Amino acid sequence: MEKITTTRLIEMKQRGEKITALTAYDCPTARLLNEAGIDVVLVGDSVGMVKLGYESTLSVNMEDMLYHARSVKKGNSRAFLAVDMPFLSYESKPSDAVYNAGLLVKIGGAEAVKLEGGREMLKSIRAVIEAKIPVIGHLGLTPQGIHKFGGYKVQGRDPKSAQKMIDDALALEESGVFMLVLECIPAGLAKKITSLLSIPTIGIGAGPHCDGQVLVTDDLLGLSGMSPKFVKKYANLQGDISKAVKKYRKEVRASRFPSRSNSY
Ligand code: KIV
Repeated sequence: MEKITTTRLIEMKQRGEKITALTAYDCPTARLLNEAGIDVVLVGDSVGMVKLGYESTLSVNMEDMLYHARSVKKGNSRAFLAVDMPFLSYESKPSDAVYNAGLLVKIGGAEAVKLEGGREMLKSIRAVIEAKIPVIGHLGLTPQGIHKFGGYKVQGRDPKSAQKMIDDALALEESGVFMLVLECIPAGLAKKITSLLSIPTIGIGAGPHCDGQVLVTDDLLGLSGMSPKFVKKYANLQGDISKAVKKYRKEVRASRFPSRSNSY
């Protein structure tokens, strides 16, 4: 199957082909997502909450992202590999943004970096793009802004904040961002932004009108214990794992494992 590139993703929007995206934090998961034909594999900074036991994504650092991106890179083949820039790796100085984005490309294998924020991030975004690194924008409920929002709440519900988001989206496109994640916003607003932009929008909790969808893979698999309204659980791996581990424990205690067939 043809390798997914920035050009192909933009073409998919133009052709009305929905883009599929999921997160991965390790090599075997990346391999599975590639085998299933997922278009974009995202090493999200959600790794902090999903895998590293942090309370929010704010504690995630470059070391975490590079470690997980390197592992994902090894299992990735056809999918487009995007990597999140963690909190404080891009906000303070454009030169920091370029350096850290460069590390994600050079060491982590990123084909694009994703960073959160609107017009206030334009300097960093432009600098990264000038360094020839494709950038994915992220608007709406941007988890690194959790303290500003006062919780994980739907954004852009009132006309003023909706208009601000539209203006931010247009400015990001104008600056050269090639794709935009819209998180936890009303479906109607996502539809409007999607129709105004020529770059693809990828929704998470943003309704059906985006050009593509992304979810945290562990949520979809029922492995994270997280079930916000926008998540559809396609499996219950937490339940399956718990059952399997309990059965193993019982069989070891009862000397039923290992059996003859498991022995040499
Ligand atoms: O960190 C993440 O996993 C994300 C997405 C789910 C969009 O940013």
